[in-house]
Amino acid sequence: MPALATSDIIAVIGAGAMGAGIAQVAAQAGHPVRLYDNRDGAAQAGIDGVRRQLEKRVARGKMAQEEVEAIIARMTPAATLAELADSRLVVEAIVENLQVKRGVFAELEALCGPDTLLTSNTSSLSITSIAADLERPERVAGLHFFNPAPVMKLVEVISGLATDSEVAETLYATAAAWGKVPVHASSTPGFIVNRVARPFYAEGLRLMQEGAATPATLDALLRQAGGFRMGPFELMDLIGHDVNYAVTRSVFDAYYGDTRFEPSLVQQALVEAGRLGRKSGQGFYDYRDDAEPDAPDFAPAVEASLPPLVAEGQLGTIAPLVARAEAAGLEVVRRESISGEARLRLGGLTLALSDGRCATERARDEGLEALVLFDLCLDYANADAIALAASPGVDAEARTQATALFQRLGLDAAWLTDTPGLVVLRSVAMLANEAADAVLQGVCSAADGDRAMQAGLNYPRGPLAWADALGLAFVHRTLSHLQQSYGEERYRASFLLRRKALAEEPFHV
Ligand code: NAI
Repeated sequence: MPALATSDIIAVIGAGAMGAGIAQVAAQAGHPVRLYDNRDGAAQAGIDGVRRQLEKRVARGKMAQEEVEAIIARMTPAATLAELADSRLVVEAIVENLQVKRGVFAELEALCGPDTLLTSNTSSLSITSIAADLERPERVAGLHFFNPAPVMKLVEVISGLATDSEVAETLYATAAAWGKVPVHASSTPGFIVNRVARPFYAEGLRLMQEGAATPATLDALLRQAGGFRMGPFELMDLIGHDVNYAVTRSVFDAYYGDTRFEPSLVQQALVEAGRLGRKSGQGFYDYRDDAEPDAPDFAPAVEASLPPLVAEGQLGTIAPLVARAEAAGLEVVRRESISGEARLRLGGLTLALSDGRCATERARDEGLEALVLFDLCLDYANADAIALAASPGVDAEARTQATALFQRLGLDAAWLTDTPGLVVLRSVAMLANEAADAVLQGVCSAADGDRAMQAGLNYPRGPLAWADALGLAFVHRTLSHLQQSYGEERYRASFLLRRKALAEEPFHV
């Protein structure tokens, strides 16, 4: 389906943070835009706000003043809903309340022509439910922008039960024509991003609650080893714990208490204490003027003479780590192994990539006296920090040697208490698991799931593409080990991940 013509009028209802931004996007794309808000003066104030934003771009030399004038000239405040009657597309961005939204959609249906597309920017309400009482629910869809709408690329195009596929396709093409990255999703709690992202926060919170490491250490590892733009704690502090906790609660409740989405008592306590993050001056971190920033707990620099590093088996994912050891001038000996599994040996110490078992369990299973597990990195060639965990047989000297090894490679080492799946591997496996379930349940395609996480949250890699690269059998094994370790449903692997692992069929071909 083609995009709407730039001559088509776009109406936006609600001139708050999201509505004004969406109106700006449509006007910048060349459409005449009508902006309505039921609060006196709010629509004009919204347009004035857009002008101020655009003029900042003029001041930075990124936009011509004439362009600002042209965009603003295309934006008109509407005094009544009736003034939106001849719009081709309406985007509703009012208060997040189902009854209020339903009332507005009923009014719109009575006012607008039969071809007007009616959409909601809701982040948590069901599109099916918003459209349920209308005569023509097939022309209703979700058009979910992210904050700030002019900056964030992702738009989730949400189809409710009755939404006509041509309506969804027209919205998709229109969002693309507006310079956005659209994805299709069916109307299910959290849609794609707010659902698939839950484990990023949840696993961080859990690792911290179990004393695996501090927030500053976990954040540093997810950034420096995982390649995420921000770690979960700094991100939750930025979003605001009230908002982040409310989203988790709403997804948890909507899935009838599925433990995968269980809210965190640690976060609940922050909300109760009014420590909402940056906006209140305190969250996991202290943002008050005299506060010292929290540093990650990386091991201090150590000196140790290292025996040759023996690299056994099919190195696969960790091959760049071994290449890095060679580049650092360490003596590296390559060796075949009977099992073919990748192992590093440093004297009597064995080092291996985590597979979701804790070091204590894995050392016992494999009959090893001293085992150090290391975490997944997005890119072992360029990471500059890594999480480690030791089995009980690792003595102080072996620990120093392992620290020295990673430091020689240019990696800061963070020793965690012995925890299954460490930090990056555990987070990535759980993100991929959630994305796999979303695909299994027909919420989105694998391609759109990955695109949504990258465009919506700047993830360094789509979770499913990441799982493909690691090998689905490995990700599945990791999740099974996590489930065994905790005995909880929360870590059960998605059936789609299992089937694809068995069939050796990646998500992306
Ligand atoms: P906001 O509170 O900044 O703005 C809402 C605006 O709607 C206000 O100006 C209010 O006067 C107006 N309004 C309320 N009821 C109205 C009615 N019956 N008719 C006309 N105008 C009415 O809210 P915000 O943050 O812009 O959110 C709007 C919608 O966008 C909500 O559904 C929210 O869930 C969704 N959303 C919000 C995001 C965010 O980060 N703030 C991100 C994505 C979606």
